[in-house]
Amino acid sequence: MSAARRMPVGVMISGRGSNLQALLDACARPDYPARVVLVVSNRPAAQGLARAAAAGVPTQVIDDRDYASRETFDAAVTEAFEAAGIELICMAGFLRLLTEGFVERWRDRLINIHPAILPAFKGLDTHARALATGAKLHGCTVHYVRFDMDTGPIVGQAAVPVLPDDDEARLAARVLAAEHRLYPRCLQLIAEGRVRIAGDAAIVAGATPDAAAALINPSDS
Ligand code: GRF
Repeated sequence: MSAARRMPVGVMISGRGSNLQALLDACARPDYPARVVLVVSNRPAAQGLARAAAAGVPTQVIDDRDYASRETFDAAVTEAFEAAGIELICMAGFLRLLTEGFVERWRDRLINIHPAILPAFKGLDTHARALATGAKLHGCTVHYVRFDMDTGPIVGQAAVPVLPDDDEARLAARVLAAEHRLYPRCLQLIAEGRVRIAGDAAIVAGATPDAAAALINPSDS
């Protein structure tokens, strides 16, 4: 695919930006079908801003504390992405609820990564809750965004085992490593036009895993 045909994407962050970094790293590959053209942060101190700058990607801080309402903040974000000509928004650790108007404006062009296997553990503190319930598998989900929090057509998921001596930090690190593999993979599939939304589901063409593969915990061997 020529560089000119790469899907222009925007990324929304609030903090560390390690998923942004994974997307930037993928976009640096000559054969990758998307490119990050603008990173928007609602926090001026977000570490991800430096990651974008280091990759030569323009950034814009749209500090929600400067806006009187959610509506005016969301409108500023839309304006920034429209001006940049983006076709898809990737939320990557963006820690602010969006208005229904924004979600509808970008319907089927707005994706998010959530640190749990949805529909389990919607919301915050997913790793602590997975540990508290004794879940044996945990992971992450890339999904299209709908107004109800942590719902929407699922593009891809990754599972990791929960190990007996895990604490929140160890489990979070294992999930995060999976996030960094999953998010670029899902963006690639979307940018290649291989993801179709049908009702509440996202149908992915030609990306079949080994049907016999199972991650079993406790192991059966
Ligand atoms: C990730 O765990 C992501 O799943 C969640 O927020 C965290 C962001 O981390 N939505 P980072 O900023 O990408 O490092």
